[in-house]
Amino acid sequence: MKKQVIALLMAAVMVGSMAACGSDGAETTTAAADTATTAAEAEEGKEEAAAGDNVLVMATNAEFPPYEYHDGGDIVGIDVEVAEAIAKKLGMTLEIEDIAFDSIIPELESGKADIGVAGMTVDEDRLKNVDFTEPYTTASQVIIVKEDSDIAGPDDLKGKYIGVQLGTTGDIYASDYEADGSTIERYNNGFEAVQAMQQGKIDAVVIDNEPAKVFVSQNEGIKILDEALTVEEYAIAIKKGNTELLDKINKALAELKESGELQAIIDKYISAE
Ligand code: ARG
Repeated sequence: MKKQVIALLMAAVMVGSMAACGSDGAETTTAAADTATTAAEAEEGKEEAAAGDNVLVMATNAEFPPYEYHDGGDIVGIDVEVAEAIAKKLGMTLEIEDIAFDSIIPELESGKADIGVAGMTVDEDRLKNVDFTEPYTTASQVIIVKEDSDIAGPDDLKGKYIGVQLGTTGDIYASDYEADGSTIERYNNGFEAVQAMQQGKIDAVVIDNEPAKVFVSQNEGIKILDEALTVEEYAIAIKKGNTELLDKINKALAELKESGELQAIIDKYISAE
């Protein structure tokens, strides 16, 4: 029964996101991951980029600090730097497409984007539609509440109003509580969910631990509960069956892990407790 609800939810999310596809004002940024050294190579690189086969298009949803977020006019964060390092290893130029989170998988399926890098959790249902690389980090779903809340742990979410980002694993797990009389409010991003809680519209927010820490540090009077809901792994999503790209990216990722570069990127954005 639980599985069925999740499957239905995912189906609804997919349909919803397909309908929304292209209407969300996708924003494109080109990051400097060009490795061309000589003028001739640079010229060649330009031609290839124009032809489209030397550009690695990353689909993301830049509302998810510290993994991807807006800093002035730029999109920055762990995922951006990891993708840049991968593009560099592949001799490609990274291009970032900032779209709704639930549009990322359809964007990969249609071939408009090559990689989905968005703090995306490896999940069984998603694996039906895309392939995932080896994981590059672990995370968890946590509960944010107001400091004076009577919600002290996951069990207390029963019967409450829970805010999530639409189409995320937080959405999937929180939706389990619908059977217990909880109401799920789905927002375009985690920040909006936190704002809604501050305005008293909802009782709790279920979201990934690192964005949760950022939101709590930027807002007065809210806290993260000690007990997490799940433990998850983030990986890069790729169009199903594109094993050539999958293998290349797994190789690049393995090198970044081996050299310590991956950890250095993570440490730049997340200070150790
Ligand atoms: N880890 C969660 C998931 O895979 C949330 C990811 C949200 N990412 C984002 N860039 N908004 O569903």
